[in-house]
Amino acid sequence: MGGEMNDITEAPLLVAARGGRPSRTPVWFMRQAGRSLPEYRKLREGTAMLDACLDPEMVCEITLQPVRRHDVDGAILFSDIVVPLKAAGIDLDIVPGTGPVVAKPVRTRQDVDALPRLHEEQVRPVAEAVGLLNDNLGGVPLIGFAGAPFTLASYLVEGGPSKNHERTKALMHGDPELWHALLGHLADITAEFLRVQVAAGVKAVQLFDSWAGALSERDYREFVLPHSTRVLGSVTSVPRIHFGVGTSELLPAMREAGADVVGVDWRTPLDVAVERLERAAPHLPKPVVQGNLDPALLFAGLPALEREVERIKREGRAAAGHIFNLGHGVLPDTDPDVITRAVEMVHGSAR
Ligand code: CP3
Repeated sequence: MGGEMNDITEAPLLVAARGGRPSRTPVWFMRQAGRSLPEYRKLREGTAMLDACLDPEMVCEITLQPVRRHDVDGAILFSDIVVPLKAAGIDLDIVPGTGPVVAKPVRTRQDVDALPRLHEEQVRPVAEAVGLLNDNLGGVPLIGFAGAPFTLASYLVEGGPSKNHERTKALMHGDPELWHALLGHLADITAEFLRVQVAAGVKAVQLFDSWAGALSERDYREFVLPHSTRVLGSVTSVPRIHFGVGTSELLPAMREAGADVVGVDWRTPLDVAVERLERAAPHLPKPVVQGNLDPALLFAGLPALEREVERIKREGRAAAGHIFNLGHGVLPDTDPDVITRAVEMVHGSAR
């Protein structure tokens, strides 16, 4: 699949991640596997989301579906940020149309002390899925991922999805010591989940700090950065992508945490993001970025889509390397044929 390559390290996505110029602009889409695909909805019928994530055959098939359809340059492991929490024994579920819901929110010292550790054998099905995928992906690199400590903490403390993260911020500022104990614990779980994936053979990892954009830079640096730094520092053998939504002000700090590739949402043009990153760290090599098509643009018709794709490719040339992606995940109602066309546009083969 995706054109056999002798040496996967020369795959466009991995060349760009190292700051090189690949043969074509690599592209993959966050949430490329999932509800936009009829074959996904059919396969998932009757299986709960978290059960699907722990079924190696199903994970393998769902991960391959968008690669077969769209000719993307990366496969993202089908899983969820709450999988390691669930596997470790935390009582939670993913409620369709809502997101992760935690039975007993984590708010006190007792709650934090009672959090379980993650043991490798609890996520063995994920490692098995990675093995199956590497047998089936040919030259297309598999991207593993995990949720960052802050985003996981937000679900655990709020008990579910949250607009304002008020309980999370109250804990952060009201009891900094407890906050750091919680994030330290989550950093251990996240680092272990990534270690298992890398050992099983993923070729890159993405750390999703989806809700970090809710924080000021000052709070991010004090309450979050040390923990994400520890997670990313534990990954040494594959490129690390670090992504959040609404993180315009946080991009330099998110790079500092140890990212090889900085994910950018659609609010910040890529050339502006590159300039910010360079200004903040002139001693570092030129940055590598990933992004940043607004997922809503997949509904705007092909001419508008093509204009946006061209603009983003142009702005992405300011970086040492550019991995094309959306600025956040594929929306469930997206027409999958439009996704295929978007990939052709990025590759420069659109008819
Ligand atoms: O294709 C891919 O990107 C890989 C799969 C993936 C999923 N979740 C599958 C999924 C990835 C990378 C995630 C990460 C994830 N999960 C994040 C970080 C990325 C982001 O979107 O910011 C977050 C915040 C979550 C938590 C979560 N899980 C939410 C908000 C939801 C959506 C709830 C809903 O129904 O609207 C989920 C469930 C989920 N994770 C689905 C999928 C395909 C939908 C469940 C289904 O198909 O029944």
